[in-house]
Amino acid sequence: MSEKRLQTLYEEIGETKLNQLVEAFYPKVYADPDLSPLFEGDMSEIKRKQKLFLTQFLGGPSLYSQEFGPPMMKQRHIPFEITPKRAECWLNCMGQAFEEVGLINNPAGEFFYDRLKQVASIMVNTGD
Ligand code: HEM
Repeated sequence: MSEKRLQTLYEEIGETKLNQLVEAFYPKVYADPDLSPLFEGDMSEIKRKQKLFLTQFLGGPSLYSQEFGPPMMKQRHIPFEITPKRAECWLNCMGQAFEEVGLINNPAGEFFYDRLKQVASIMVNTGD
């Protein structure tokens, strides 16, 4: 965690890879039996929001906040029952998407995934 970085993760990973990741991720989420009941909205809209958010999360331009204000992700997730099991499923879908787009065995990718693991655990708001 004390590793020094000269570039932001956003620059290291790049917009193209980030977009590919989000494109690979949501079809898995919508197909996951534990997650799909929560995702009833338009897939293209959640993909768009997630691209804006992750751009900002990785140190790129603050695209999410420009449109939606402070991220406050924990608060924005309160309407959804996020159990430890669902957090695990979310991360598994993300892990598969990382593999699919070639972000594993890559230092920037590993660092990014570790941060997602931390945020996913913070999002848990109810028991299994
Ligand atoms: C831990 C398991 C998680 C579950 C079950 C979950 C579930 C959801 C659901 C149901 C929505 C609303 C979808 C819709 O509007 O159709 C949502 C929105 C969102 N989630 Fe998650 N989420 C999780 C973790 C995360 C994490 C770790 C991040 C970021 C690193 C994240 C970022 C977002 C963003 C950016 C939105 C859009 C917020 C908005 O409406 O502006 N989520 N999530």
